[in-house]
Amino acid sequence: MKLFIAINLNERIKDYLMTAIHELKKAAVKGNFTHRDNLHLTLIFLGELGPDRAEAVKTVLNRIKGEPFLLSLSDFGKFKRNGGDIHWAGVDKSDTLITIQKELASDLKKEGFSLEDRAFSPHLTLGREVRLTDPAGSPYDALPASKQEMVVSRISLMKSERINGKLVYSELYGRDLG
Ligand code: 2AM
Repeated sequence: MKLFIAINLNERIKDYLMTAIHELKKAAVKGNFTHRDNLHLTLIFLGELGPDRAEAVKTVLNRIKGEPFLLSLSDFGKFKRNGGDIHWAGVDKSDTLITIQKELASDLKKEGFSLEDRAFSPHLTLGREVRLTDPAGSPYDALPASKQEMVVSRISLMKSERINGKLVYSELYGRDLG
């Protein structure tokens, strides 16, 4: 099973991100755009693991300390890639978000998980392999400038699989905060 730990988003934030994806699609010559159901914020990518290790992840999630906190969207951005960029919506690096992510990474390492040593760069992926018609263009100018935020009250262990060629994420376990 391919597993990751994530924050799932409420419908209002998904509405906003789908509007952003709509604008991104209009500005793109090509791209592989995120489906509404798959919008999420990854905290930790775990990779391919067996069911026994999934149990160990649940134990780590249950140990996490932390109260519900506010997640706020920030700027849009992209990771440059050959073959097309990854476009994303960024989030504010709130203290609680960073603390929970660090705590998870450190506890998982203590439990013997080998995690990628990349700096945590919180983002909500809107599209992969995207090429814009105008590479210097800013696709999101038509979006309302309102602050987009939601309360995070649950951290989820997610499974990623391909079903009939479609990428499907499902929650294996959820840990409610507070
Ligand atoms: P991405 O959105 O930037 O692709 C499930 O694959 C989730 O884990 C995605 O949110 C993905 O981030 C993230 N992830 C982090 N590292 C990954 C890796 N090495 N391979 C696949 N997904 C990864």
